[in-house]
Amino acid sequence: MTDHSIPSSTLDRAGWFTLGDRKVRRLGYGAMQLSGPHIFGPPKDRAMAVRVLREAIESGVNHIDTCDYYGPHVTNQIIKEALHPYPKELVLVTKVAARRGPDGSWLPAYSPPELVQAVHDNLRNLGLDVIEAVNFRCMFNPMGGPVEGSIEAQITALAELKHQGLIRHIGVSNVTRAQIAQARRITGIACVQNHYNIAHRADDALIDELARDGIAYVPYFPLGGFNPLQSETLSQVARDLDATPMQVALAWLLHRSPNILLIPGTSSVGHLRENLAAAALELPVAAIRTLDGIAAPAR
Ligand SMILES: NC(=O)c1ccc[n+]([C@@H]2O[C@H](COP(=O)([O-])OP(=O)(O)OC[C@H]3O[C@@H](n4cnc5c(N)ncnc54)[C@H](OP(=O)(O)O)[C@@H]3O)[C@@H](O)[C@H]2O)c1
Repeated sequence: MTDHSIPSSTLDRAGWFTLGDRKVRRLGYGAMQLSGPHIFGPPKDRAMAVRVLREAIESGVNHIDTCDYYGPHVTNQIIKEALHPYPKELVLVTKVAARRGPDGSWLPAYSPPELVQAVHDNLRNLGLDVIEAVNFRCMFNPMGGPVEGSIEAQITALAELKHQGLIRHIGVSNVTRAQIAQARRITGIACVQNHYNIAHRADDALIDELARDGIAYVPYFPLGGFNPLQSETLSQVARDLDATPMQVALAWLLHRSPNILLIPGTSSVGHLRENLAAAALELPVAAIRTLDGIAAPAR
């Protein structure tokens, strides 16, 4: 640990939640920012990427979200280089159903044989015999939000890999409520990973339903993703609390529901520390009320 790194006692302030059957700290890390520009090719600073991952673990992060199509392969290979052999408390979660074109485009790859191949690619590049959780990332609308359509064949293929012992838990991503229900009729679902943050609240009701069933909700783009959150209200609350807007956005998510697990992505140690420190940020009731007004909750 260095003088400025965040201790695990800070992360503990945000509490823990059971993902599948593994308890994880609610503030984790999303590895998407560790490859090159546009999540394609090698990073500008590989040593920094390794440093970010190692410091995350030293600070108590025990839930990392990744994917073999980041790079492709690059992010998983950096995770292996930085962290293998993995600490036993680390839960690595990946996602499947896309591939990258030679120009970096994001292409659907969700036939059952492609899903099987993707799980094997993840295992090989991460250096694992079994992966804790695999999200089926629905690609019916590759760069857009969820659209309806059967995911039975895909979830059945992943359930078979679970039966074979290559996957411990299955999750779903970029999905509708009907698709989650369909998946749950086939196998247990440990987590749902959809787009959600303080300004994008389409899943409000869904989060509450999943909380009642003990299923983790892991919002992607918790900080706005490719369009970082910008709101005068957020900035004002941050100033009042002597925090940063990103810390307030993360603290709001932690407060929103106990089943929300955070995986903010960053390629810098400075932002990692800033984000992890949000675990200890307490939002006064008045601040929560103000922040709730940034976007209308979807009900
Ligand atoms: N299932 C899906 O379809 C899907 C889609 C997208 C992402 N994901 C997962 O969700 C994770 C999080 O999403 P994300 O990384 O795309 O978006 P995000 O966490 O909302 O935001 C990441 C962006 O914010 C910047 N950032 C991070 N911390 C910051 C801070 N403290 N101050 C200012 N800027 C900051 C990062 O730049 P710097 O690198 O400069 O910090 C990066 O540009 C990913 O890592 C990935 O694992 C899943």
